[in-house]
Amino acid sequence: MADTVLITGGCGFIGTNFVRRMLERYDYNIINLDKLTYAGNLENLADCGNNDRYTFVRGDVASVDDLEKVFAKPIDIIVNFAAESHVDRSIIDPDSFIRTNINGTFNLLEMARRKNTRRFIQISTDEVYGSLGSTGAFHEDTPLSPNSPYSASKTSADLLATAYFKTFGMPVIITRCSNNYGPYQFPEKLIPLIITNALADKELPVYGDGLNVRDWIHVKDHCAAIDLVMHKGETGNIYNIGASNEKANIEIVKLVLAILGKPESLIRYVTDRPGHDRRYAIDSGKITGQLGYKPSVDFAEGMRETVEWYVDNREWWERIKTGAYLEYYEKMYGSR
Ligand code: NAD
Ligand code: DAU
Repeated sequence: MADTVLITGGCGFIGTNFVRRMLERYDYNIINLDKLTYAGNLENLADCGNNDRYTFVRGDVASVDDLEKVFAKPIDIIVNFAAESHVDRSIIDPDSFIRTNINGTFNLLEMARRKNTRRFIQISTDEVYGSLGSTGAFHEDTPLSPNSPYSASKTSADLLATAYFKTFGMPVIITRCSNNYGPYQFPEKLIPLIITNALADKELPVYGDGLNVRDWIHVKDHCAAIDLVMHKGETGNIYNIGASNEKANIEIVKLVLAILGKPESLIRYVTDRPGHDRRYAIDSGKITGQLGYKPSVDFAEGMRETVEWYVDNREWWERIKTGAYLEYYEKMYGSR
């Protein structure tokens, strides 16, 4: 019988892209466990509803009761995307970050330990390493030095996952990726925010001097790397994932404006994010050397396609901005 893969947070940006990849390429039974917070959009996977290998469960990784229900059936592999993921929100209201990112990961690890789950992939982030100066890149053994409540909660989850490998021999692997871009990203993150604001001729808020640097990777390449780790990664290991596209934020904003043919006068410099990490850069040498990973999306081409996706899927993001997407769950599941 085909394995069952539990994907948590599958209605978010990266989870959506990953669920699609798994259904397209493998015969796994997929369970998507998602709480449907503001960031989870069931409409993203509406077309998968008729696939009999796909099951959506609305549930909270921080609720043991919810997990007991899901784990009543055998789960072979867990890929844990579920998280509160937006740094700015973690500065305003850190509570849910602690609950989901730390308690939620702990609950999943405990459940996986009790049920002898065969593989546990913890989706982490390069933000656990903190901020770089003007040179160098994050390696897997770079000291952990998180600066925001978000990254501190993700670091805590990583430490729990590592401890479960060391103490209980649990088959845990951690991935740490850089900034993703691509279709289905919630329009509060830099790239979709800039695209959708520019399309509406609204101001584009750039934090501080706009010279903070992020290392961008297309979500397809991130998902391909997780797929590799899931099938070929070595238990107990950490794999950094990136695509060597370091860009200052202001370069990204100007690139989007150029693609859309909109004026730079829309740019507005605003007060900086507190504790704003200056620069991220990922060294993906380990996953490249050990697992044969190679990103496939050219940055300029990937950005052009991403901008086009938001232009072509205006209804998708307008429903988010108006809150209409939240009604979809009620319509689909409210009376069930
Ligand atoms: P996202 O915010 O778009 O999606 C998160 C998903 O998790 C949503 O569907 C949400 O409903 C769900 N969720 C939140 N709390 C939950 C809970 N308690 N129980 C069940 N589901 C819950 O996030 P994303 O950008 O897709 O990121 C996914 C993962 O990848 C996160 O763990 C994040 O830390 C990591 N990551 C993201 C990036 C990036 O650039 N976006 C880069 C590296 C790593
Ligand atoms: O590095 C991986 C991380 O990338 C992930 O772990 C996080 O989940 C993901 O949200 C992302 O975090 P960032 O804080 O880097 O992403 P964000 O899109 O929020 O911001 C990118 C950069 O753009 C950052 O330097 C802040 C800046 N920014 C962001 C927003 C929303 C602006 O200048 N203006 C904005 O309006």
